Amino acid sequence: MRVGNTEIAAQLLRELTGADLFKIEPVQPYSKDYNECIAQAQEDQRRDARPELKSCPNSLDGYGTVYLGYPNYWGTMPMAVFTFLERFDWNGKTIRPFCTHEGSGLGRSESDIRRLCPGAKVETGLEIYGSTSAKAGPAMKKWLARE
Ligand SMILES: Cc1cc2nc3c(=O)[nH]c(=O)nc-3n(C[C@H](O)[C@H](O)[C@H](O)COP(=O)(O)O)c2cc1C
Repeated sequence: MRVGNTEIAAQLLRELTGADLFKIEPVQPYSKDYNECIAQAQEDQRRDARPELKSCPNSLDGYGTVYLGYPNYWGTMPMAVFTFLERFDWNGKTIRPFCTHEGSGLGRSESDIRRLCPGAKVETGLEIYGSTSAKAGPAMKKWLARE
């Protein structure tokens, strides 16, 4: 299967931080046909859907900081990421978002994360142009150094 831009960025981040990696995957993937995928994702967002996930950790106990990566879908995160975020108690945790996109940057994703994760400290996110995600290392290092 094709490795997506966000997964490429996540792997880079793992190399730089040594963090554990967990992939958020819906049970029902969107279509491989681009136009259909776009329409399905838009419809899920319109319905404020919470797509079921293939798997999810039982808890995030033991993790103080979570690097949350996602592609920008229609100005925010894919709805499966909303499902993931609502599963946990975020009190006292730090979330560092990174978003791959094709022009819209983080969009409104940071404010959506703040709303979905009460009690979390949500740091300024990193925007990565999707098509250049394999070259995001230097920008990521700078962003990581802001800790
Ligand atoms: C359903 C859908 C909606 C998208 N909406 C936006 C958008 O609103 N703004 C933007 O800059 N890019 C948008 N994109 C482009 C993706 O954010 C970008 O290609 C991203 O790097 C894809 O990551 P992936 O390969 O991990 O899936 C959209 C892509 C898809 C498939």
